[in-house]
Amino acid sequence: MSDAPRTILVTSALPYVNGSPHMGHMVEYIQTDIWVRFQKLRGHDCIYVCASDAHGTPIMLKARELGITPEALTEGYTKEFVDDFGDFGIEFDNYHTTHSPENEELVGRMFAALRETGDIYTRTIEQAYDEKEAMFLPDRFVRGTCPRCKSADQYGDACEVCGSTYTPEDLIDPVSVLSGTTPVRRESEHYFFRLSEYEGRLREWMREATLDRNVVAKLEEWFAAGLQDWDISRDAPYFGFRIPGTEDKYFYVWLDAPVGYLASFRHLCERRDDLDFDEYFGAGSDTELYHFIGKDIMYFHTLFWPAVLQGAGYRRPTSVFCHGFLTVNGQKMSKSRGTFIKARTYLDNLNPEFLRYYYAAKLGPTIEDIDLNLDDFVARVNSDLVGKLVNIASRCSGFITKRFEGRLAGALADASLFAEFAAASEPIAAHYENREYSKAMRLVMALADKANRYIDEHKPWVMAKDEGRRDDVQLVCTQGINMFRSLMIYLAPVIPAVAAGAREFLREDGWRWSDAAAPRLGAAIDPFRPLLARVDPNEVERMVEQSKESTPVAEENAERSDVIDIDDFARIDLRIAKIDKAEPVEGADKLLALTLDVGGGRRRVFAGIKAAYDPESLVGRHVVVVANLAPRKMRFGVSEGMVLAAGPGGSDVFLLSADDGATPGMRVT
Ligand code: 2FM
Ligand code: ZN
Repeated sequence: MSDAPRTILVTSALPYVNGSPHMGHMVEYIQTDIWVRFQKLRGHDCIYVCASDAHGTPIMLKARELGITPEALTEGYTKEFVDDFGDFGIEFDNYHTTHSPENEELVGRMFAALRETGDIYTRTIEQAYDEKEAMFLPDRFVRGTCPRCKSADQYGDACEVCGSTYTPEDLIDPVSVLSGTTPVRRESEHYFFRLSEYEGRLREWMREATLDRNVVAKLEEWFAAGLQDWDISRDAPYFGFRIPGTEDKYFYVWLDAPVGYLASFRHLCERRDDLDFDEYFGAGSDTELYHFIGKDIMYFHTLFWPAVLQGAGYRRPTSVFCHGFLTVNGQKMSKSRGTFIKARTYLDNLNPEFLRYYYAAKLGPTIEDIDLNLDDFVARVNSDLVGKLVNIASRCSGFITKRFEGRLAGALADASLFAEFAAASEPIAAHYENREYSKAMRLVMALADKANRYIDEHKPWVMAKDEGRRDDVQLVCTQGINMFRSLMIYLAPVIPAVAAGAREFLREDGWRWSDAAAPRLGAAIDPFRPLLARVDPNEVERMVEQSKESTPVAEENAERSDVIDIDDFARIDLRIAKIDKAEPVEGADKLLALTLDVGGGRRRVFAGIKAAYDPESLVGRHVVVVANLAPRKMRFGVSEGMVLAAGPGGSDVFLLSADDGATPGMRVT
């Protein structure tokens, strides 16, 4: 062991338990689990805790919609998460929930400490309130027209079309998504955390914490913009912990969520005598504490969380490790394409170790997104794990079993080649430590290539035909199996089940990282059984198909702002109109003013078709018009509808016109 034993506590973000785990979730838990397994293999005292994030408005509303309690909802999904984590080989030392007595006690204690120091204070604020539902509305529960670009149906905090950010009261025609009514403004007293006072302390933490440069850049941006005090309370109804001393105020989910890290650890301490909570979380603790998170929740973990911990008298995280998002086949996961793959659907079709390896082969320490390309996944798993790695053992072990009673030689055929495998130990370890998993995988696979080349060159199957070279066969195969063994130890954090199979084949009880540098000689081994089967592309295809099936079409459409449903379409009143008059508009280069007969009435509509049509040629033509478009005031007058045309613009515009027989006012369907 090259480095002194360390005491480390590691967390992954606590998942919201209001939906099933999917492939995007697994990036973080696999990334963390690999790191933790690596630390344990190195002989460090490393503990990994997590929990379900069980509070907040979306969970409360989803439970209400399903007619069950939030407890029942979150317990149900917690079970799914726990099962899927287990089947993916994610090995927590403890998995708890934020809706626990330990968490309530800790949050209450931190709140009291921060009240005492004056870091938490109250202020009355005005907020959107749904009178019908009798509740205050989170920004995302108000929708309306963007005040800047006028796009309809935007969230209350940001416009998805133009990207501007604002508050719900800035929206034009705001509507509560819960009741469809117009929210009113209502006052309420809220609790605030004085984040604005923490810039100096956070800057100092930022320097100590050896954060990725992307994280530092983001922090600098936030410092430059100025830190705002943080609203940590929510009014009833809310699913969370009631704030002590109040009747109807609750801790905002984002206050008690990270406290859940401590609560899960405390819950573990209750059954482990060797662990002391204060040793890990006391202000002067010299244990290491790392949070693995996604880049979307960086703000909470790098500003708010270290500040709250410090203010309440606890230690701060040693560092926060951020990863990017997952894309599948180069795109956002999509239910219609079958790439929104639930963890369970994957598990029903494919070996979890394959995904662990594939993610490892892609992961680095930065916030860059990673892509799961399904063709590449099949190719890489088959070529690296089956073709290169497992092949080494299968090419050598038969001879050992059949000709040497399963016993390895007492020496290596090529000690200097093995020394190269041993020397890779520290570079590979450094890559794991720095979360440069893709680099670690490249080093391992380069060594696997070397091992295969060695076997190709020495051809034990040819030697075996020559009785005079009997000893050489044993030496060469012992060399091959030892190279395989070192690589399996290096890969044990990534593919623990395959590594355990290899270890059993070698009849060893346990491995430590340092074992990779010491060959196993003269020992008996088991007959080789295939440790992995190739991935069949059909299995991947089946998984994608199953992911498509489980998709309600409406859900998919709801994700796409460019899709309307049949009811939306039915609201558009398309009619045939006869052009009675077409004339240029003074001062407008592109417009013609059309007087239309829409059956039972006349309309004046401005159309940008002047470059394409001579006005006189239009008179008498039947065109298609959006008859129920709200009149719009334009510079040259009011336009009372819209004429439909196709084409890129300018002179390339073609009015959609109707065949003879269509009459003014006829509905277009
Ligand atoms: O973003 C999320 O999914 C949150 N549930 C993560 C919480 S992490 C921690 F703070 F609890
Ligand atoms: Zn906008």
